[in-house]
Amino acid sequence: MSANRPAAVVVLAAGEGTRMKSATPKVLHSICGRSLVGHVLAAARELDPENLVVVVGHAREQVSAHLAEIDPAVRTAVQAEQNGTGHAVRMALEELGGSIDGTVVVVCGDTPLLTGETLTNLASAHTTDGNAVTVLTAEVPDATGYGRIVRDDVSGAVTAIVEHKDATESQRAIREINSGVFAFDGQLLADALGKVRTDNSQGEEYLTDVLGILREAGHRVGASVAADHREIAGINNRVQLAEARRTLNDRLLTDAMLAGVTVVDPATTWVDVTVTFEQDAVVQPGTQLLGATHLAAGAEVGPNTRLKDTKVGPGARVDNTVADTAEIGQDASVGPYAYLRPGTRLGLKSKVGTYVETKNASIGEGTKVPHLSYVGDATIGEYSNIGAASVFVNYDGQAKHHTTVGSHCRTGSDNMFVAPVTIGDGAYTAAGSVITKDVPPGSLAVARGQQRNIEGWVARKRPGSAAAQAAEEARRETAGES
Ligand code: UD1
Ligand code: MG
Repeated sequence: MSANRPAAVVVLAAGEGTRMKSATPKVLHSICGRSLVGHVLAAARELDPENLVVVVGHAREQVSAHLAEIDPAVRTAVQAEQNGTGHAVRMALEELGGSIDGTVVVVCGDTPLLTGETLTNLASAHTTDGNAVTVLTAEVPDATGYGRIVRDDVSGAVTAIVEHKDATESQRAIREINSGVFAFDGQLLADALGKVRTDNSQGEEYLTDVLGILREAGHRVGASVAADHREIAGINNRVQLAEARRTLNDRLLTDAMLAGVTVVDPATTWVDVTVTFEQDAVVQPGTQLLGATHLAAGAEVGPNTRLKDTKVGPGARVDNTVADTAEIGQDASVGPYAYLRPGTRLGLKSKVGTYVETKNASIGEGTKVPHLSYVGDATIGEYSNIGAASVFVNYDGQAKHHTTVGSHCRTGSDNMFVAPVTIGDGAYTAAGSVITKDVPPGSLAVARGQQRNIEGWVARKRPGSAAAQAAEEARRETAGES
């Protein structure tokens, strides 16, 4: 690595990205949980460059703030007006003191599929061949919009890059294109940039012209052809954004499957680059795994599940669930139709069942909240059972309060636990109770109105109704009349 360590990587990210038709700068659009420029920086970091410079221009406050967040060591160079990719690289070299010894790698901020491996191969080919410039190229099925690689008929050497807009009909037939990624000799780059003109269809300083300038001055110009053309795809519009997302997602799922994860339907499974898996995890269709989500060995999630920053323990089962910043313990069972909000921690073999919402709730080993409940700001011990349709009433309109339920408790259905309140170990509560006072360990709490039956009410108040008839028939049957 160190032998090929570049003096600098320059990332071009000053353009507006007009074709995105967006209020968000192009390089801040994201795929698989990372901005476009974030993907490029991650690949660039694999080269371990001495300097990493991002050229910002359009919406530069927004772009710079994002860069400071994701990679604080990045330097920025401002290109106030977008006068072309050559001009952008000039601004980067100015930031570095005008010129720099060693290799300068230039990449565009809108090529998120580029891998560190491809950049490393480019940098080492550049050094090994002793080139003044090495361009990364690819053969693409549709070259529309890209700069074309023009090669010498006889020697096959690269002679120039011609932009689509400036190309002749026969040049447009060329399918080998400029990826926008280059390795340059830093000093020769600085010299050549001084000679770039603007007499082209866009009136811009093209970085691509450096290649012809260096060649005419007698320097070695090389090309390195990317193994997979999809890697160098530049994102210019939202169709390409969706295609790139699909390609990257496929790449991530392929890696996971080859590492022993079962992905039942890759077409409807979406993952972020930061998601991790252990062997024999299973992902059912229609599942989105986001952020720092981790599936441990044998965990099964989906179908129709969205997990963000959520840890799923070994052997746990998560079905038709939405979870954010939750920890699901080993062999726990969640869903179908559960919503785990931040701060949810589920113990070994615990259960959060159907139509249950949890937030800032710690649910102990073997404890079950099976049906139709809200558990907010709560600590529940081990092997307790929370009855159906219970609400942990945590909010008094001003502040949130905590409820503690002990171990081996049995709370009745349709309970309200009005926080702050504590249910002691081994306590029971009666169905339909509104629990406002602490329940001592081992007690039964009953907190509901007494039942009163008013006999004959229907016959008096609803005479002749179907209810009155049914009641009369029941009375006769009991009395043995027929
Ligand atoms: C560029 C290349 C083209 C190549 C294609 C690969 C040039 C002249 N053309 O075309 O040969 O096939 O990329 O995707 O280099 N940028 C700046 N400042 C500017 C202009 C652009 O920072 O003044 C940045 C943009 O933000 C973007 C990158 O440079 O990240 C490329 O610019 P873009 O407008 O997308 O160029 P293409 O037309 O795609
Ligand atoms: Mg582009």
